[in-house]
Amino acid sequence: MQLIKQQINKTSATRLRGGNLMPPFGLGTWLLTSDTAATVAYALELGYPMIDTSSDYRTQPGIGAALRMTGIRRENIFISTKVEEADDAYARTKNDLKELGLQFADLMLIHRPPLAGAGERLWEGLIRARDEGLARDIGVSNYSPALIDELVDASGEIPAVNQIEWSPFGHSEKMRRYCLEKNIVIQAYSPLTRATRLNDAALMQLAQKYRKTAAQILIRWNIQQGTVPIPKANQKHHLEENINVFDFEIGKDDIKLLNGLNEGYSSLGYLPYI
Ligand SMILES: NC(=O)c1ccc[n+]([C@@H]2O[C@H](COP(=O)([O-])OP(=O)(O)OC[C@H]3O[C@@H](n4cnc5c(N)ncnc54)[C@H](OP(=O)(O)O)[C@@H]3O)[C@@H](O)[C@H]2O)c1
Repeated sequence: MQLIKQQINKTSATRLRGGNLMPPFGLGTWLLTSDTAATVAYALELGYPMIDTSSDYRTQPGIGAALRMTGIRRENIFISTKVEEADDAYARTKNDLKELGLQFADLMLIHRPPLAGAGERLWEGLIRARDEGLARDIGVSNYSPALIDELVDASGEIPAVNQIEWSPFGHSEKMRRYCLEKNIVIQAYSPLTRATRLNDAALMQLAQKYRKTAAQILIRWNIQQGTVPIPKANQKHHLEENINVFDFEIGKDDIKLLNGLNEGYSSLGYLPYI
């Protein structure tokens, strides 16, 4: 465990546009509802440096309990959480923090754009929360470049992060370039394709070549490209496997091969940024 923590520390953290650091990898908690507190506590003991949640995952109280159980120092864990489309974002942020038992979140996101507009009012609420110290950084999720532009035009504030579905099977060069230009970090959700593409033949071949699993290759692909994966795992052996990705490097040609698997695939139905 100590070794894994050292390996993660050696992998450069991602610098967000305001200067704060975000770990290169974390744990997703959507549907992580089978004993959330014990599962997250186990992940923290393994060395997971970041936990992603949302008000609608119903995992915040369990995460809060895990943080208290393990006694992890606040500066050693990065927490990202979200507000929903219909929320008063400022009030919801306070509620999220109450459920988590925290004074501040490292990252607060708009979970998805509302049906009309770009979510300007939500964004105003998050800006206020950030300015009052309730969130270190703020960002969006499931946003297209056009919607981010709308938000920036209305507020002058560029999101630090766009959390989107991102895997070798579904990603976008246009989105990647846009985020690079604007200095927005891509936090990669469903990086394991929700386990729907782990049997892909090309992926399995690479896994064999590197003596790793298909899931580990998918996670490593993200890390090496500076996109930040947050795989979810409820099962202990998955938690252990997914963090064990800091002791190998996928070669350039194989990264290209993985990039070539892109077919705009989404495990949730569609990629909202294409
Ligand atoms: N912003 C958004 O709109 C949004 C949308 C979706 C997800 N997210 C975030 O991103 C996180 C991750 O995405 P996700 O939960 O959709 O999907 P995911 O992480 O791609 O896949 C999770 C699934 O993969 C399985 N799994 C985990 N590790 C495995 C391994 N090593 N080998 C085989 N199977 C493995 C898990 O099983 P077990 O649980 O049984 O171990 C679970 O069924 C979410 O939990 C959430 O925090 C955000």
